Amino acid sequence: MANIQSLRGMNDILDKDSELFTYFIENASRIAKNYGFTYIETPILEETSLFKRSVGESSDIVNKEMYQFIDKGENDVCLRPEGTAGVVRSFVQNKLDRAGGNYRWYYYGPMFRYERPQKGRLREFHQFGCEVFGVSSVYEDANIIMMIKDILDFFKIGFKLQINSLGCQTCMPVYREKLVNYLTNIKEELCEDCNRRIVTNPIRVLDCKVENCQKLLYNAPKITHNLCEKCDTDFEKLKEILDFNNIEYEIDTNLVRGLDYYSQTAFEFTSNEIGAQSAIAGGGRYDRLVEFLGGRPTAGIGFAIGIERLLELIKTEDVKKESIYLGALCEEALNVLTKVAAKKRKDYKTFIEYTPRGFGKHFKIAEKNSATIVALIGENEIKEGTIYTKNLKTKEEKTIKLEDF
Ligand code: HAM
Repeated sequence: MANIQSLRGMNDILDKDSELFTYFIENASRIAKNYGFTYIETPILEETSLFKRSVGESSDIVNKEMYQFIDKGENDVCLRPEGTAGVVRSFVQNKLDRAGGNYRWYYYGPMFRYERPQKGRLREFHQFGCEVFGVSSVYEDANIIMMIKDILDFFKIGFKLQINSLGCQTCMPVYREKLVNYLTNIKEELCEDCNRRIVTNPIRVLDCKVENCQKLLYNAPKITHNLCEKCDTDFEKLKEILDFNNIEYEIDTNLVRGLDYYSQTAFEFTSNEIGAQSAIAGGGRYDRLVEFLGGRPTAGIGFAIGIERLLELIKTEDVKKESIYLGALCEEALNVLTKVAAKKRKDYKTFIEYTPRGFGKHFKIAEKNSATIVALIGENEIKEGTIYTKNLKTKEEKTIKLEDF
């Protein structure tokens, strides 16, 4: 009988990957907390209509990529394809839209999209995301971008930042009409997908990856030239704050994002070191989403980082911390080692080898476990109340008083 394999596009996370994964979560969470975010966890399974009403029926995510099924109670449910919708549902369900005030939440966990798997594109992948409610100031847009930069800088990851403004309910419809007029005139030359989108979601045409379509779109009206006064002022201010903080960016008027809930600021961080699926983080403002999901109008903004894509870029040697290997040279030393371990574990990763062995064998196991310090106790050390130590990096050896270790 053939062994059972994990599903296509769904991976286990273990060994080196899990070390990187937890290293990322710990440090991204720490940075988010420093920015005033607290953790939120929402269910992985939600009603399908949640994503239809938020991500949008015309988006590829909802249209083609949902893991959707009818459960045993006849409910139409699906595995979440992204995190924002669930967080907004929770915000409304807990009546926080009525309470007023600001809320800043971060989350991480698995997301599911039935896409064609390839490098950097999975069917089950993980996101680290943040969502902010009740803050309409464009300073928050800049704050969010600076926070993502802080996270990427911490992990020494180079990036390119693209920003755009998608306007609001005043200027977007006027722009959309102009765009549809332009697109209708070149309809015959555009690809099949674009033709479908002219009707369902014309803004997404700007995002078409077909080279010929991109050429034809070169002269299309640009959203940033069609913003109302408020959106224009906000976008100018955002650029000013980013400039003031020396954050480099490009304006990409074709950056429309694959989810329908955005208004005003939209942004994407990309890396040129991970192949075609280069987006490592994306997000933007969604000031109407709380309303779409039945809540009182509340400003919202957030982002999500694709963890698997990021892990490709984190250097393993950055993760390694000091770790201690404790070994017994005789049976009696084991008891002493349990005490030493309890003390050292308050600050260091500490491993005890339970089988008493000779020097050479202990060093072999310690190296295999990538320990940085080897500490051994034998009969002599017990008698003298000492411990033998060797730093495997500097090769320095010394025997010291147990209480000084
Ligand atoms: P998104 O751009 O769809 O936005 O996804 C965010 C990130 O998740 C992407 O930049 C990418 O790194 C990663 N990602 C997406 N799909 C896959 C995949 N199939 N395999 C591996 N990684 C993937 C959102 O999901 C929004 N909820 C972000 C947001 C939060 N906007 C406001 N708040």
